Amino acid sequence: MTVRELRIGMLGCGTVGSAVARMLDEHKDDIERRAGVRLRITRVAVRDASASRTAPLSPDVLTTDPWSVVNAPDVDVVLELIGGTDPAKDLLLAAFAAGKPVVTANKELLATSGKELFDAADAADRDIRFEAAVAGGIPLIAPLKESLSGERIARLLGIVNGTTNYVLTRMSEQGSTVDEALDDARTLGYAEADPTADIDGSDAAAKCAILASIAFNTRVVGSDVYREGIGGITPQDISDASRLGYVVKLLAIAELEDGEVSARVHPAMIPASHPLASVRDAFNAVFVEGGKVGQLMFYGRGAGGDPTAASVVGDLVAVARNLAFGGRAIGCTCVLDRPIRSMDHTTGQYYLNLHVEDRPGVLAEIAETFGRIGVSIERVWQEGFGEEATLVFITHRAREGAFQEAVSELRELPSVRSVASLLRVEGEG
Ligand SMILES: NC(=O)c1ccc[n+]([C@@H]2O[C@H](COP(=O)([O-])OP(=O)(O)OC[C@H]3O[C@@H](n4cnc5c(N)ncnc54)[C@H](OP(=O)(O)O)[C@@H]3O)[C@@H](O)[C@H]2O)c1
Repeated sequence: MTVRELRIGMLGCGTVGSAVARMLDEHKDDIERRAGVRLRITRVAVRDASASRTAPLSPDVLTTDPWSVVNAPDVDVVLELIGGTDPAKDLLLAAFAAGKPVVTANKELLATSGKELFDAADAADRDIRFEAAVAGGIPLIAPLKESLSGERIARLLGIVNGTTNYVLTRMSEQGSTVDEALDDARTLGYAEADPTADIDGSDAAAKCAILASIAFNTRVVGSDVYREGIGGITPQDISDASRLGYVVKLLAIAELEDGEVSARVHPAMIPASHPLASVRDAFNAVFVEGGKVGQLMFYGRGAGGDPTAASVVGDLVAVARNLAFGGRAIGCTCVLDRPIRSMDHTTGQYYLNLHVEDRPGVLAEIAETFGRIGVSIERVWQEGFGEEATLVFITHRAREGAFQEAVSELRELPSVRSVASLLRVEGEG
């Protein structure tokens, strides 16, 4: 197929879509030099065609019928920026059925229906590219999928949600509660009106599923990812961590061990010296460990119209080159069927702060429980006296299931008044 221009049918023209339209307009000559063809938006579907927009688009390209965009003869590539799964999924399947490649920023759709979309792309022999779906403006999918083709990835550790990273940064630096920090985040435009998917970790879990699938060549879907959000993080957790030289972050972790994949999202303490500890505010970063390349870190703005548009336009250029000069992006790499390791069978280190009775023998009782269940203690110390007495433990690496069993038993001991704080510890060593 020889094309002189790539005609883009854009589904959605909100935060990201408007920024893409601006970027294609402002940098058109540079983009054309790289793509080898001119990139032009010929059709745009929105919900409300009369709403005012910041995008440099002529009003006659707008429609409220997304199907007419997908099927239009003057659309060579479908750019999906609607979000959600319905009708986005059917629209993309229709694009492939019409022989059109797809660029999307939709993590939710990829984390639930990735297989169907990749199968459809293969059947159509067309590209599906989704750089913007994980960590917005940070080039991460192409490095993992293309640049690191010869590498065996062992582990990914990332901060992939800007809202929660902003909230945790405010809690650490200003002593705020989750709710206070979230109010600030809304004022600054770092949080949606409804930030549930950020706070409960489901946004990060969708991204974790996508990254794990690419890194380990096996299908991982959102529901395979163990998930805990930051709603339960207290100022005490943050100050405990800080006193011990740690920072609390919401981490997305994907690991390959003994042929099994574990994928999880939860808050964790990381040493203040760890590269991820210095990732502040709404920034994102993903730390990758490869067998040959060693450690890599990708850092930048994980959201926002303009940064995300940079990823989308990069994908459009790649698609344009393939259509114009022949070729295809690497297709689905999920060729293996690796088992997903349950959370109980993962191993980790733990921080536990117990509010206890201040009398002889209490430490021995607690140590007996840990010892019997097979959780060994790296460090223990007492803080405070009398009514204020707490025992603080950092474990050696232990199986999650064993640690949780030990904590359940400890809660029942008469000498343990309450569990003041419990956090996983990551990034040591
Ligand atoms: N915002 C970010 O920073 C960011 C970063 C990375 C990835 N993403 C992903 O990018 C995608 C778009 O996000 P966004 O922030 O740009 O969303 P947004 O601002 O809410 O924009 C969504 C757009 O889709 C249109 N739309 C929604 N449903 C539609 C339908 N059924 N038919 C036609 N048009 C429809 C809306 O039309 P109206 O304008 O008329 O309402 C709007 O223009 C999502 O998948 C998101 O997860 C966003």
